[in-house]
Amino acid sequence: MGEIKPITLGGVTIDGAGDGFPVEATPQEPVSAAAAAAWARQHRQAIDDLLAANGAVLFRGFGLPSDAAFDQFIAAFDWPNFTYAESLSNAVRRNRTDRVFTANEAPPEVAIFLHHEMAQTPIYPSRLFFFCEQPAHSGGATPICRSDWLLDRLADEAPDFVAACAEKGVRYSQTMPAVDDLASGQGRSWGSTLSADNRATAEAKLARLGYEWQWQADESLSVTTPVLPAIRQLQDGRQSFFNQLIAAFFGWKDARNDGQKAICFGDGSPIDSTAMALAVSIAEDLTVDLQWKQGDVALVDNLRVMHGRRPFEGERRVLASLVA
Ligand SMILES: [Fe+2]
Repeated sequence: MGEIKPITLGGVTIDGAGDGFPVEATPQEPVSAAAAAAWARQHRQAIDDLLAANGAVLFRGFGLPSDAAFDQFIAAFDWPNFTYAESLSNAVRRNRTDRVFTANEAPPEVAIFLHHEMAQTPIYPSRLFFFCEQPAHSGGATPICRSDWLLDRLADEAPDFVAACAEKGVRYSQTMPAVDDLASGQGRSWGSTLSADNRATAEAKLARLGYEWQWQADESLSVTTPVLPAIRQLQDGRQSFFNQLIAAFFGWKDARNDGQKAICFGDGSPIDSTAMALAVSIAEDLTVDLQWKQGDVALVDNLRVMHGRRPFEGERRVLASLVA
């Protein structure tokens, strides 16, 4: 890996392009929120090219003051919005604008494990924006990890596991509560998740998406996905470990769920916990922590890069927006 030389793009220094991860973009002079959005609009193709090549871009020093300024910055890219309401995300969130919402309402001490946004469902966003409205007093970083690098290492160290992932795919099982459970990172109610106010509507949506389901005595709803791919082909010809195995196996623990039972291969056979432990340890090795500063925006390629959330103390307000 050679030395990486910063480049400039319309008065903004771009550092880390190439093998640096993530790319960092910093204006050379202070800019207003409107100027930041205008810059993004003018250079959106170059920014998207950087994202495609690298997986993540951190915009630091643009000084965006608010959710509205963040919304304006996102709008500059002209990408289609992926709405939380229509998604099958299992996290509880609150909308701020049509396309901006809180990242996850799970309590501060809960770590959110590395994941690709909604990779446990058949419908997921292509890219994610994050915005730091208020950094935590301590902790609260957003870890990010390149899944194509993870797959390279796994293919070397656990080739049988990677072959099984590729051939069989995976299925995820999960129990959704009757009402939002704010104590859990996977606490979104079935009604909210499925945009359904009754059982028949919920069942119709699940049937359409190829899920199996079972109602529980306490009105919660257990579902199992159709077989989903565990490895994904990227546009540059590489492949990524695009799935929700790590977060599901280690993170889906609450009053209703046990991560060890949440995943299996597509043919119903169990996933070896030694292989999962190896995947986690390689992922940790490759992880970079985004240590938030107020006003930061991060743009993440959801197909190549996983993200999570470190536990924190104090108030932390990180907002998110998804691109279809
Ligand atoms: Fe997420």
